[in-house]
Amino acid sequence: MAFTLPPESEKLVDDLLTRYPTKRAACIPLLHMCQRQQGWISPDAIDFVAQRLEMTTSQVKGVVTFYTMFHTKPVAPNVIWVCRTLSCELRGARFIQKHLEERLGCELGGTSKDGKFTLLGAECLAACGNAPMIQLNDRYYENLTIERLDKIIDEVAAKTKAAAPAENAG
Ligand code: FES
Repeated sequence: MAFTLPPESEKLVDDLLTRYPTKRAACIPLLHMCQRQQGWISPDAIDFVAQRLEMTTSQVKGVVTFYTMFHTKPVAPNVIWVCRTLSCELRGARFIQKHLEERLGCELGGTSKDGKFTLLGAECLAACGNAPMIQLNDRYYENLTIERLDKIIDEVAAKTKAAAPAENAG
């Protein structure tokens, strides 16, 4: 099914295009709008962005696959990124990852059985001084312990309606 934005978002796109010297310069913000709407960047969304910005689908796909913040497959309503780079690793990131995998019942790249969380691995998220850390949706949680992590997951899970599990995420 062809991807479209609601009329109110279309007005935002028109406004967005006035802020950049070329249409293609608005590629990343427009992709963010698409991802906010459907949770991931589908092939139809890539076509939509390409058409809207007068780019080729390959050019848009190149942007989508370069930046890890764009999901190329459906994800759960909550996305957890576990930082696995050196500072976090030295401060226990592997235990954070293992605990999340056991608790959510999925490995990195997978979605929890209740469909509420997708678990992904990340390279350094620039909060090394407060390692170990995760990014959960748009928020950083730093200086993590297993107890604190459980509390965070409990709180977010309680606010999230159960959803059908997504396929492995990308
Ligand atoms: Fe984890 Fe930098 S190593 S935030």
